[in-house]
Amino acid sequence: MSKTHKIAIVGGDGTGPEVVAEGVKVLKAAGERGNISYEFVEFPLGGENYMKTGDLLTQETLDSLKTMDAIYLGAIGHPDVKPGILEKGILLDLRFSLDQYINLRPVKLYEGVDTPLKDKGPEDIDFVVVRENTEGLYAGAGGVLKKGTLDEVAVQESINTRKGAERCIRYAFEYCQKRNNKKGKKVTLCGKTNVLTFAFDLWERVFYEVAKEYPDIEADYAHVDATCMWMVKNPEWFDVIVTDNMFGDIITDLGAMIQGGMGIAAGGNINPEGVSMFEPIGGSAPKYTGMGIINPIAAIGAGQIMLDTLGETEAASWIEQGIIKVLRDDLKDLAAGKMGFSTSEVGDLIADFVKNSAK
Ligand code: IPM
Ligand code: MN
Repeated sequence: MSKTHKIAIVGGDGTGPEVVAEGVKVLKAAGERGNISYEFVEFPLGGENYMKTGDLLTQETLDSLKTMDAIYLGAIGHPDVKPGILEKGILLDLRFSLDQYINLRPVKLYEGVDTPLKDKGPEDIDFVVVRENTEGLYAGAGGVLKKGTLDEVAVQESINTRKGAERCIRYAFEYCQKRNNKKGKKVTLCGKTNVLTFAFDLWERVFYEVAKEYPDIEADYAHVDATCMWMVKNPEWFDVIVTDNMFGDIITDLGAMIQGGMGIAAGGNINPEGVSMFEPIGGSAPKYTGMGIINPIAAIGAGQIMLDTLGETEAASWIEQGIIKVLRDDLKDLAAGKMGFSTSEVGDLIADFVKNSAK
């Protein structure tokens, strides 16, 4: 008997529930094919729930989430709620409370997808960003003095612990080992050692220490500004990039653009020893809510990363094959309303392929 995966479904805000529904459709197709069973439990987190009940992430919800095998998230962010409240109160609270210390964000250009980078193709754009996900500027350390006066002082501190940097860097090397890039294995630390001389001094020392344990992997360093430059000019240089929370946030939006945009960018908030959470990177796209025109591929890709992380590697590869097929043969464009298919038709196409044609 195969194990039943208990998956928390958090559709969240805007188009989140629509894209997650397509992801669930595809997960079920892979389940049928591979004899994988799931128990899906819905959690009504998000802006609507907050406006109705005043609750963000309650202890009770968190306790139930801790009993799940994974969380499948649509999007958090509502136009009627002040920016920051839901993001910090739900999304970041989940990441921190569940100690999801890795944010894994693959940047892969598939055949048939346009990139804004001239003369670059799928063979050039294929790397993974390992973003630290619980520390740095996101830790919420700091404060404000004399608010609203001309003497106002605002301090936002970046928290970097030896343990936090080390577990993230180690994950990046392990991931690189497993990924086994044919062009050569390389982990690049993306930092700012020339200015952030406390934080990235720690990161850099830990990086080269851990690197010694992986003699077959090239250990490389680039400042964050240079990383942005190379991601545009020579993306083929990268295999695995490891970086802190803030830099990782920024460079993965750039990464999403060079792989074809927010319609396709997916990621995982991973606690290798606990409950992980998988999400499309794109956000809630409120103006497209309920129109059936949003691209669900990023959410479906998040489902693929989820299955992979749960150990269902074969089923995960079926989903990737489905995504590849639909991007290559069917979709006209990745943008909302321009796909040539509705949201649920795209889900159907991939689900059918997973069920009937994947190898
Ligand atoms: C992301 C998002 C979040 C972040 C926001 C919504 C808090 O931009 O997942 O990259 O900054 O981490
Ligand atoms: Mn971001």
